[in-house]
Amino acid sequence: EQIEKGGYDHFMLKEIYEQPQAIRDTFRGRMLVDQGLIKMAGIDDHIDKFLNARRILIVACGTSWHAGLVAEYIFEDLARIPVEVEYASEFRYRNPVIDKDDILIAISQSGETADTMAAIKMAKDKGAFVFGVCNVVGSSISREAHAGAYTHAGPEIGVASTKAFTTQITVLTLIALQLAKKKGKISTSDFHRYLQELDTIPEKVEKALGSNDHIEKIAAIYKDAPNCLYLGRGFNFPVALEGALKLKEISYIHAEGYPAAEMKHGPIALIDEQMPVVVIATRKGHYEKVVSNIQEIKSRSGKIIGIVTEGDVDVRDLADHVIEVPDTIEFMTPLLTTIPLQLLSYHIAVMLDKNVDQPRNLAKSVTVE
Ligand code: G6P
Repeated sequence: EQIEKGGYDHFMLKEIYEQPQAIRDTFRGRMLVDQGLIKMAGIDDHIDKFLNARRILIVACGTSWHAGLVAEYIFEDLARIPVEVEYASEFRYRNPVIDKDDILIAISQSGETADTMAAIKMAKDKGAFVFGVCNVVGSSISREAHAGAYTHAGPEIGVASTKAFTTQITVLTLIALQLAKKKGKISTSDFHRYLQELDTIPEKVEKALGSNDHIEKIAAIYKDAPNCLYLGRGFNFPVALEGALKLKEISYIHAEGYPAAEMKHGPIALIDEQMPVVVIATRKGHYEKVVSNIQEIKSRSGKIIGIVTEGDVDVRDLADHVIEVPDTIEFMTPLLTTIPLQLLSYHIAVMLDKNVDQPRNLAKSVTVE
């Protein structure tokens, strides 16, 4: 096992560090930057279905559901296709309206999650076209779907999902870009610019990983907090949810993720000097509004950990700590802002002496309801 961990203390840490390569592997053969092309057989072979789709329904569970939420923002923004994201477990039992003009995208790392599988079967029965985004090659969901795209993250052993999440977002971003281009919703020059920027994401993830020691120090300060709040807006709202999920999964600290502006409708009541609040405040994307949310937290003595763009000044002035990530195009920020949140949870869990790779009560693959 020590050998399999490749010198890392835990699979989770190894998998966090594998993300630059995992994202490159997800691009491989699909993103041809020099030619300004995306090639994805699962999409290209069924392009008419996608171009004529009335809407896209995304179903998933857990971390994969968070990737689906990020995808909703990206698909609607770039490709202008209406998207709804649902927990597979809710969708399958609520008699949803689906027909043959709908596309269902099922996201699943393992490709074995029972609720996601049941949602697919129901959607197929109602005539929808089902597209699978799975990591495990040959898994049940990848076989049940009409078409699909693998994430190529490589085996993920840690129960808390890390590289599967970022590669799911990567695949879904490629799909959104391809559809946006084919639908004529983005210009050729923007399409090229996006591909070029996406191509730099692995090295930017690498850079974000460079904050590991700094994050470990922050973890030492907050490891005994009983609660933690995560806030983000827009593309980074789902990242806040995912950050909170990571913390509760492996450290057993109660954490909640919230859209930053919703804070005033409830969570603000929780804020006092005991409450660490992780705020994703990258320069692009409602930055001023998030800064004013940070001011509200500060005036109630909450402890602020800001995830900011390199060189940020405003949040640094207000926050107790900042963790920088490289600058990028707004819809690509989740691929970077996720990294410090994974590392923060990891270090807190290690310091609390928890079983990081196999947290209590959780399973890597949930094949029963
Ligand atoms: C379990 C795992 C999570 C995962 C979820 C969905 O709860 O512990 O990490 O996100 O299942 O799994 P899937 O394989 O469908 O992505």
